[in-house]
Amino acid sequence: MPDAVSQQKPDKQALYEALAGRIDSVVRGLDDEVAAMASAACLIHHALPYVSWTGFYRVVNEGLLRIGPYQGPPACLEIPFGSGICGTVAAEEESLVVADVHAFPGHIACDSAARSEIVVPVYRKDGSLAAVLDLDSHAPSAFDDDDRTGLEAIAEILRRHL
Ligand code: SME
Repeated sequence: MPDAVSQQKPDKQALYEALAGRIDSVVRGLDDEVAAMASAACLIHHALPYVSWTGFYRVVNEGLLRIGPYQGPPACLEIPFGSGICGTVAAEEESLVVADVHAFPGHIACDSAARSEIVVPVYRKDGSLAAVLDLDSHAPSAFDDDDRTGLEAIAEILRRHL
């Protein structure tokens, strides 16, 4: 019989499976980056109970990210490649799961209550980097490999529309 703790844990794989289907059906037939990112940010944010901020930082020129569609409290507007968690993911094009943001050198604290974070790269059809998708949580260690797999699958869905 599952214990009390595991009963309280969200079934992330099921959440992400349902979410991917919803995002796919909303953005299908759409050829508009802002509409696709705005829909994805909204659907993700409202599907995951442990998330405090969900959004995109778009690549606007060589080496610079600028805020894109998001849900949650106001966030910083621009992040250079290589800065903070988002800028590191943009520079290295590799997802990052950060259990404790205070332990990440150079972490940019847009929300002082944020404790953990996950960022994944988002590409266009042509293979260029369009944005990074960033999720924050007020809980420490909120994100794991299920989130990474789920969000990378969502990035793959978006790739077809960017
Ligand atoms: N913490 C991020 C900045 C963006 S906010 O979390 C919305 C970072 O270190 O890149």
